[in-house]
Amino acid sequence: MCGIFGYIGKQDTAAELVLDGLKLLEYRGYDSWGVAVKVGKEISIDKHVGKIGNATVNLPKSNLGIGHTRWATHGGVTRENSHPHLDCTKKLALIHNGIVENYQILKEELLKKDHVFVSETDTEVIVHLIEENIKTNDFSTAVRISFNRLDGLNAIVIANADSKEIIAAKNGSPLVVGEKDGDFYLASDFSGIVKHTTSVLFLKDNEMVILGDGIQLLSLSTGEKIVPEFEVIDWKVEDVDKGEHEHFMIKEIYDQAKVITNIANTYTESIEELAEVMRNAVGTFFIGAGTAFHACLVGVYLFSKIAKKHINTSVASEFNYLEDFLTDKSLIMAFSQSGETIDVIEPLSRAKEKGSKIVAITNVLGSSIYRMAHHKLLLGAGPEKAVASTKAYIAKLSIVIMLAYGIQKETKKAKELLLHAAKEVDRLLEKEQVDHIKKLSSIFKNAKNMYVIGRGVSYPSALEAALKIKEVSYIHTEGLAGGELKHGTIALISKGTPCIVFAPNDETYSAMISNATEIRSRGGVIIGVSHKNAEVFDHFIEVKDMGEATVVAQIIPIQLFSYFLAIDNNCDPDKPRNLAKSVTVK
Ligand code: AGP
Repeated sequence: MCGIFGYIGKQDTAAELVLDGLKLLEYRGYDSWGVAVKVGKEISIDKHVGKIGNATVNLPKSNLGIGHTRWATHGGVTRENSHPHLDCTKKLALIHNGIVENYQILKEELLKKDHVFVSETDTEVIVHLIEENIKTNDFSTAVRISFNRLDGLNAIVIANADSKEIIAAKNGSPLVVGEKDGDFYLASDFSGIVKHTTSVLFLKDNEMVILGDGIQLLSLSTGEKIVPEFEVIDWKVEDVDKGEHEHFMIKEIYDQAKVITNIANTYTESIEELAEVMRNAVGTFFIGAGTAFHACLVGVYLFSKIAKKHINTSVASEFNYLEDFLTDKSLIMAFSQSGETIDVIEPLSRAKEKGSKIVAITNVLGSSIYRMAHHKLLLGAGPEKAVASTKAYIAKLSIVIMLAYGIQKETKKAKELLLHAAKEVDRLLEKEQVDHIKKLSSIFKNAKNMYVIGRGVSYPSALEAALKIKEVSYIHTEGLAGGELKHGTIALISKGTPCIVFAPNDETYSAMISNATEIRSRGGVIIGVSHKNAEVFDHFIEVKDMGEATVVAQIIPIQLFSYFLAIDNNCDPDKPRNLAKSVTVK
């Protein structure tokens, strides 16, 4: 949560470079934003409440600047609480991602020393703490000492009007440094930097970096120098662009056939290696949050069906409380687009302490989860910028299909299925199909509640469909197993209640049609997602039967439906209220 950007170099347009970087990182948080630049021996600052949109900054020329786009944790959404924060002397400007868990103790200590606070944030204590320590130390030592006093998972970047350096430190929250011709860029993730350079250094936890005429990397605990190891990332500027589309969400929906094809054509070797790791484990757990958890659940059904293997699963944040039985033979496979989700990182750290092996299935090279894992597999979906996850979900499903067949030494079969699914995804995104979904959205855009049901592997599809609809359109939507309907939720069905029913050509078909009939007899309106039309459907969305790969294609029309519901309700599908793309705080 929160986007961080910094620049130091030869160009005197630091403010514009930082603002531009923030626009690329805005999906990480969009309550408020701010930029600070060093001008002579002073800091100039410009802060605003709300999204950045097409904003410009009104700041003097400078070759050193930092900026932040906020997702509020401590303190409301106000200009005062937005970053950068200044110390009492107004010489230090600081941006922060994370939560300072002991900020109250630190604040009391600083208040006794007459520091004056202007915000309600935990962040502001850091800049005053550095101000206090800089009285008796040089800039970098003051930052190091101060950072080491913070409890929690944090990343900070500081500009000092009296120094020609930017300093950054991290423990938990992500930070990446990019370098091009002696100019340095700092960002929460690589997508903010890619337009300037592909040569990057992923800061590790417990490291700090001093950027100025050159780069110095130091250990936060000892202050000792570390040799920085830059790597070249294989992303292109177009990957972080909306292209011809109005929103990232729709662009990313259209990317999906390509994502599936890539996995089908290029993942066989890595899948076979991972399948071997799974064969050797005693107890395998799939964990993830939100959409990633739904992919885990799809995995559980597919492993049971295809590989006849039981996989345990849990929402990652709950796995913390289910870890007592882990051993050094257990295998925890973490699914995470960002690789930075705190709810996933925490249980992984604890499992690691118990000697369990960790597999990261993530979209972001160098992310925290990627780095902490013993075995790694990249999703290869390309940057996903819309808060609503679409193509990363499809990549995860493609990977679990490959893995389930991989365990059976049948990756060839998985490959065929996936290539077939990619074709169906392309068909579902043809104009005629998209117009059909658009029309459905215009019919249901004023609904107050919706329900989605599925059985078997379509149960996670129902959960995912409901999550997608509610997160971007704000229409309350509940996803549930078809069999659960009569155990309570059917009480909420009345005349005109829209219900999406997944009825694929598998063992769940007849039961799903019965559930649809039960809903319809209570006035519900049925949107059937199926390989064939049925009398009980009021509206029909055709998704061809592709055996186990049907689960990949059947979510596509609902992703589109969610997108159009958001548009029809004047919601921003890329930046839904209260949400952020990467959830790095608890
Ligand atoms: C999906 O649409 C959501 N925005 C959300 O549930 C997301 O999948 C979840 O926060 C997990 O993120 P991750 O994959 O980056 O770990």
